[in-house]
Amino acid sequence: MSGQNFNLAVIGAQWGDEGKGKIVDLLCEDFDVVARYQGGHNAGHTVKFGDKHYTLKLIPSGIFHRDKLCILGNGMVIDPQALLEEIGTLQNVGVTIEENLKISDSAHVILPYHKALDLAREEAAGDGKIGTTGRGIGPAYETKVSRYGIRVADLLDRDVLREKIEFACAEKNSVLSGVYHKETFDPAKLYESYLEYAEQLAPRITSGTVLINEQIRAGKRVMFEGAQATMLDIDHGTYPFVTSSNCTVGGICTGLGVAPKHIHRVYGVAKAYTTRVGGGAFPTELNDAHGEHLRKRGNEFGTVTGRPRRTGWLDLAVLRTAIMLNGVDAVALTKLDVLDEFDEIPVCTEYNVRGERWRTFPAFAVAHHDFKPVYRTFKGWKSPTAGVTSYDDLPPLAKDYVRFIEEETECAVGIISTGPRREETVVR
Ligand code: IMP
Repeated sequence: MSGQNFNLAVIGAQWGDEGKGKIVDLLCEDFDVVARYQGGHNAGHTVKFGDKHYTLKLIPSGIFHRDKLCILGNGMVIDPQALLEEIGTLQNVGVTIEENLKISDSAHVILPYHKALDLAREEAAGDGKIGTTGRGIGPAYETKVSRYGIRVADLLDRDVLREKIEFACAEKNSVLSGVYHKETFDPAKLYESYLEYAEQLAPRITSGTVLINEQIRAGKRVMFEGAQATMLDIDHGTYPFVTSSNCTVGGICTGLGVAPKHIHRVYGVAKAYTTRVGGGAFPTELNDAHGEHLRKRGNEFGTVTGRPRRTGWLDLAVLRTAIMLNGVDAVALTKLDVLDEFDEIPVCTEYNVRGERWRTFPAFAVAHHDFKPVYRTFKGWKSPTAGVTSYDDLPPLAKDYVRFIEEETECAVGIISTGPRREETVVR
């Protein structure tokens, strides 16, 4: 891929946690700009840098490469306190964060009442809860769509900020106390703390859309870093068990102000099996010893919340859907090594939904969970692939597994990840 002049999107092809951070970090060298276009600090991108693991929540994974410009796009929802903490943590371990991190003035701001509403609703929903990360993401996007949101640019205007916080507090407080019997927020205190955040963030605030388009016009290469994933997309995912943004490729155009003609290639990142955190449909879920093995061996615990992830076999209907929706050019298949010890590895090739065959994910079936996965079972390779860096060195049965994915999805597997480190990767 080196030396080629194109912009690349890296997008989750399942329910998140596919290892996008590692893929972005790996491919970063060939790019000048890394931009996030949706989500907020619900994301947890793990990057192994040197011999340390870092978790990035808001900042693009390109930040570890000094010469990359990192942009937080207008489609994001940003908690200033969380962002300042993340900047501080990275700076403390020697990561340079100066002119290389910019924030779009049109991104929306998360306030503490968003978080309180997120938590209160989840509590009230009982067993029907979404299982959100509790960071206020959904309520912040709701406020944005209601047209009463506070944008990053508003942080720089004292009068506008005060007015908007007072107006929002009146409404949010009445819902918090009246509907959910929770504590309310003092607008004057919020104003004071957000003025402080504004002061610290001011030098990084810019017109994100102008900045990224100038970079593109100047021939710089841009990587668009997706957060969450296709099946968590507000429009295309397993609604209502989704996040509140467009994680799929279209989110790049709206979430950064970039025209479609500037998105040249798309990598879909998928684990060699499947996981999801929180509630909602998961047709290939395993609630047995195999599922437990995937969780332990794959260290499947949430990066942001520490919750154990739900685990299951690879689902090709999900992968085909992600490839279709995002126009995926190549799949990055991660955590192949987690399957090393299985005697048999079933793969879901399609669903039977009320007697009908479905080779992509049927939105209508989500409400009743009435899809029966149809499996093709592979013989396990039972030998270590951990750390393998060349395709030729993979066991023949592991190659069969990869080839089958390619045939069934009609999409090439361009990268195979065999461990968390940058070098534990097969690039084909
Ligand atoms: P929210 O984005 O916090 O509103 O959570 C909505 C759903 O998306 C929940 O099921 C979360 O577990 C899931 N989710 C949000 N961010 C991530 C992520 O980065 N990885 C995996 N799941 C996520």
